[in-house]
Amino acid sequence: MNLLVVFLSFTLLAVSSANPLAKHDEDADLTVPELITKYGYPAEEHHVITEDGYILTLHRIPHGKNPNKSLGKIAFLQHGVLSSSADWIITGPSHGLGYILADEGYDVWMGNARGNKLSRNHTSLNPDKDSQFWNFSWHQIGLIDLPTMIDYVLEVTNQTELYYIGHSQGTTTFYVMTSMLPEYNAKIKAQFSLAPIAYMNHMTSPLLHIIAFWTGPLDLLLQLIGINEFLPSNEFMALVGDILCGDDDITQILCSNVLFAICGFSPSEMNATILPALMGHTPAGASVMQIIHYGQEVISGGFRQYDFGLGNWDHYHSWTPPLYDLSQITTPVYLFYSHNDWLAAEQDVLRLCKGLGNACAGKFIVSDNGFNHLDYMFGIHAPEYVYNRVISLMARH
Ligand SMILES: *[C@@H]1O[C@H](CO)[C@@H](O)[C@H](O)[C@H]1NC(C)=O
Ligand SMILES: *[C@@H]1O[C@H](CO)[C@@H](O)[C@H](O)[C@H]1NC(C)=O
Ligand SMILES: *[C@@H]1O[C@H](CO)[C@@H](O)[C@H](O)[C@H]1NC(C)=O
Ligand SMILES: *[C@@H]1O[C@H](CO)[C@@H](O)[C@H](O)[C@H]1NC(C)=O
Ligand SMILES: *[C@@H]1O[C@H](CO)[C@@H](O)[C@H](O)[C@H]1NC(C)=O
Repeated sequence: MNLLVVFLSFTLLAVSSANPLAKHDEDADLTVPELITKYGYPAEEHHVITEDGYILTLHRIPHGKNPNKSLGKIAFLQHGVLSSSADWIITGPSHGLGYILADEGYDVWMGNARGNKLSRNHTSLNPDKDSQFWNFSWHQIGLIDLPTMIDYVLEVTNQTELYYIGHSQGTTTFYVMTSMLPEYNAKIKAQFSLAPIAYMNHMTSPLLHIIAFWTGPLDLLLQLIGINEFLPSNEFMALVGDILCGDDDITQILCSNVLFAICGFSPSEMNATILPALMGHTPAGASVMQIIHYGQEVISGGFRQYDFGLGNWDHYHSWTPPLYDLSQITTPVYLFYSHNDWLAAEQDVLRLCKGLGNACAGKFIVSDNGFNHLDYMFGIHAPEYVYNRVISLMARH
């Protein structure tokens, strides 16, 4: 087992090209705006530059099929780690939250965090050559990208507030933003956390356990070989597929995708028709530091800033990283979680709710025992189990 762990950990950082197992399908090659317009909805693409030079892409569905049905309200959607704005529309009009909210009358904006393939650009750094481009974790996404995108959306629409819906890292970054920059609470009417991630020490993902176990050495390795993009090699993913997954076609395809290998999946929730499109758009990229920062959460059990080890003193004037102060969050937050989620464990979600105090406005467990971390995006029953409730709660704020 130990040798395996070493092998897995070190091949993890090897750079590779696209996943060869990904099957091809027209939707896999279409861009997000092309997909949206293909299904008869209006689409816009916007770019915004952060104070540290990252060029971020936002996608917008300004209204649904009936342009007259407009609430004049904004729904801002933020994806999880290794994902992108494609998450919200890839399952098509009857299942994708982007379309569903647009048809409800919302002006839908979908962000992209620095480093994913839609925001893999910078005013002066080259992501293929400059390590410094990848010198960020989800801390910077929460502290810089989210406020930049939110301010841009409010400016373009001439509004003062929006609804925020986040999945996984899209929730972590929200807690970072509102705890570090409490003035942003006033810009969010309500926040909906799908598979909330703040505390992680009860998570059960085997692959993330392996990564977390090696977080210290990985961090050292990082200092030796340079800060980089998280790109597991094909050999590594094939190995993970063989070890962690069964051998029917669908599980093999899913397991060969690092996102699904980390998060798991429920075969009963997976619509095989959308698989080729899904494989074409995920994984969408991230930095190694983002993954290590999550590994640190698993080990430390705290919701805290990046652990630089001996470098903590230089960064924080403290030997341990500062905690994110959840008591600064005043936006009403609704937590959606499920028993089969490999990353957002029930105990960790309940601890988060406690930490949020009065801001924890409601928590809902998905009753289906098979519902997993990625089913909030891709699951056949996501509208029935989750989105319908989100929409009715939005109407209350
Ligand atoms: C929207 O409203 C306009 C004018 O009120 C009307 O002509 C048009 O048919 C409506 N469109 C739809 C799809 O209901
Ligand atoms: C699977 O996806 C296809 C294509 O988006 C869709 O037409 C079909 O209704 C979906 N099936 C289920 C069971 O959701
Ligand atoms: C990156 O941004 C620059 C503008 O600074 C633009 O000219 C270029 O096309 C962008 N590259 C990509 C791959 O989007
Ligand atoms: C990464 O950024 C930090 C500032 O956040 C800086 O102190 C550090 O030197 C950078 N590391 C590299 C390798 O560029
Ligand atoms: C923006 O909204 C304010 C009220 O909130 C209004 O007074 C102003 O005219 C609006 N500006 C534009 C350009 O629509």
